[in-house]
Amino acid sequence: MEKIIETKLINFDNYNNALFEAVEVLKSGELVAFPTETVYGLGADGLNPDAILKIFKTKGRKSDNPLILHISDLEMLKKLTIQPLNDIIKIAEKYWPGPLTIILKKSKIVPDEITAGLDTVAIRMPDNKFALDLIKNLDRPVAAPSANLSGKPSPTDAATCMKDLDGKIPLIIDGGNTRFGLESTVVDLTQKPYAILRPGAITYEELKDFLGDVEIDSHILGKSETPRAPGQKYTHYAPEASAYLVSGSNSEKLEKIKEFIKENKDIKIGILASEEFLKDVENSIEKYNLGSIEDLETYGSLIFRGLRDLDDRKVDVIICEAVDETGLGLAIMNRLKKSTGNKFI
Ligand code: TXA
Ligand code: MG
Repeated sequence: MEKIIETKLINFDNYNNALFEAVEVLKSGELVAFPTETVYGLGADGLNPDAILKIFKTKGRKSDNPLILHISDLEMLKKLTIQPLNDIIKIAEKYWPGPLTIILKKSKIVPDEITAGLDTVAIRMPDNKFALDLIKNLDRPVAAPSANLSGKPSPTDAATCMKDLDGKIPLIIDGGNTRFGLESTVVDLTQKPYAILRPGAITYEELKDFLGDVEIDSHILGKSETPRAPGQKYTHYAPEASAYLVSGSNSEKLEKIKEFIKENKDIKIGILASEEFLKDVENSIEKYNLGSIEDLETYGSLIFRGLRDLDDRKVDVIICEAVDETGLGLAIMNRLKKSTGNKFI
């Protein structure tokens, strides 16, 4: 039997105290869930192998899925990689702090527990004051995957972390709702052309503009089975309900949903969609409003929250509205395809 521990939830009423407690937890080799600008992270001292292993155990994460090291300044970056840094510093200065994770050749000080045995390491500087202060005060990189149980939608608030991790970790820091609600873009800088291994808030179009030579890993585009980011091969972001995508014009989508209801009588259906589409959907269906289809930043920030919310309303099926796979739409569809197992109605 796993030991049940008491999980403390603290907010920023006393910011310095929250920071102090979180640093103490990390120093003692334990885990803390904390806010970043993307999703909440489940943090451990990134240079302490025993603490890192607790992340895998707590989440039920497969041991071949490497973790991201979070840093607070470029001095830390220099210690973690053996790659020449000229070009990389330019990229870091442009996008950090922010939702971009870079893959580099690792240095010796990076524990194998972080990289799952690979000779590369994922690094990012989060754009969140608390996260940065935590790393600075620990004075070491913080290892952190998203603070959910493996397979579930990532948490965008502290209450969701509590749902997944209560009794499993000593401390959760409540820093409110995260801004992006989608995990960082992961880009491999170990070889050219650079490659996006996981789409995120920094879009392919933006990166192409800045870097020139960058491609999207063919797995993301559905063209190959084997992803270069190991995490992309696992079932992910899945709600309790069975989930489907629906695409097409608004009238086509409505027609498909009507058909689906006809074929599946007596089940409770939820819909995760834009306000433009939801206004035409009948009211017997549970709705979660992702805001305007014109505002993909808000849309993306709410999808994980929406999946969890519809689960709380005990629907049997969740139907998610597909968006175009350009700009932020690529990251949104990457998450929704995984949530639904790429099933369309
Ligand atoms: O926004 C984020 O990135 C959040 C916050 C907490 O920072 N973190 C996050 O971590 O999403 P996680 O562990 O859920 O996802 C990390 C992704 C996985 O797909 C993993 O396979 C990939 O990064 N990754 C990590 N190290 C890698 C490496 N050396 N090579 C290729 N992919 C790597
Ligand atoms: Mg994750």
